[in-house]
Amino acid sequence: MLRLYHLGLVGVIMVRLPRLENYELEGKRVIVRGDLDIPEGDFARLEKSKKTYDYLLEQKAKIIVIGHRGRPGGGVDAKLSLAPIAKNLQSTLGKPVSFVHDTTGGDAQTAVNNLNPGGILMLENLRFDSRESFDPAQDAGAEEFSRRLASFGGFYVNECFSTSHRAHASFVGIPKFLPHAAGIRFEKEVKKLGKVLNNPRKPVVVILGGAKEDKINYIEPFTKIADKILVGGRLPEYIESSKFKVQSSKLVVADLIPDKEDITVNSIEQFEEEIRNTGTVVVSGPLGKFEDENHRQGTERVFNAVVNSGAYKVAGGGDTEAAISDLSIVEGFDWISVGGGAMLEFFANGTLPGIEALG
Ligand code: 3PG
Repeated sequence: MLRLYHLGLVGVIMVRLPRLENYELEGKRVIVRGDLDIPEGDFARLEKSKKTYDYLLEQKAKIIVIGHRGRPGGGVDAKLSLAPIAKNLQSTLGKPVSFVHDTTGGDAQTAVNNLNPGGILMLENLRFDSRESFDPAQDAGAEEFSRRLASFGGFYVNECFSTSHRAHASFVGIPKFLPHAAGIRFEKEVKKLGKVLNNPRKPVVVILGGAKEDKINYIEPFTKIADKILVGGRLPEYIESSKFKVQSSKLVVADLIPDKEDITVNSIEQFEEEIRNTGTVVVSGPLGKFEDENHRQGTERVFNAVVNSGAYKVAGGGDTEAAISDLSIVEGFDWISVGGGAMLEFFANGTLPGIEALG
């Protein structure tokens, strides 16, 4: 049984997720909500879920992998088919993965019926059906879609932390109809990120950067868990031009260089100073356009200051991970989350719809 104890608006004392190893899965049809929103040929996210698939294979489960890719908007978009991702998964696992261009119709049913113990089947992109992207608690179509998908299996596993901030059918609908557990990676995400909320080493510094304007909405929730919030990337510009209202002594907003593509040397030094003696650091977003040689200084210096600090260090998000990998400092972090938006939502709310649904 899942238990979440909230500390005011944010903060979790303990999250206990149902574990795969507590269930008898031999010969059972197990639906895995996979983390499949990746470009063709990108194996990194699949590698991160490998332990869950390997465990289910060892148990001789019949594995049905479901997931989404991109935002096709409820219609078929051949470019966003999961067919190439099924091939990627096959290479990652070294086991045959069959694929069916169907989600809930007769072809999917036949393919499910033909699965043998230790077999793996992937269904087509769930977002080709508009019912996937609604909350089944509020939408009868989404509930029907969840029920139909659930009918293919006897057990459900969420191994897609990165999209668990969406109250969509495959996250919050299916587990209503089936016994369920968290995937091995999913469980580790909650544990590692949970350390930031659960009695963290103080002070806590959050670095918010990148180019997405909606990130400024996370500043206010972070004032509840962080001692300092260092803001760079394009966010200082958005703060200036919007009706941004948060007034807090915790907030340190960088100055940008004239072309706005990096933070100034003064701001870099100020950030380095804040990071030097911190206990916990969360990194969400590069400080400038790091992929451009002339604009990587802020990201390079500040991220290096993070890894050289004695803090507990977590990071998340596609651009953040790309910058960390580019700077060859992956090993310097305690945890790099698969989630960008999901990680921020987890910190802002202390939980996610996909976590709650496993309760
Ligand atoms: C991700 O890759 O971050 C997730 O798949 C979220 O995708 P969405 O923003 O389209 O829901």
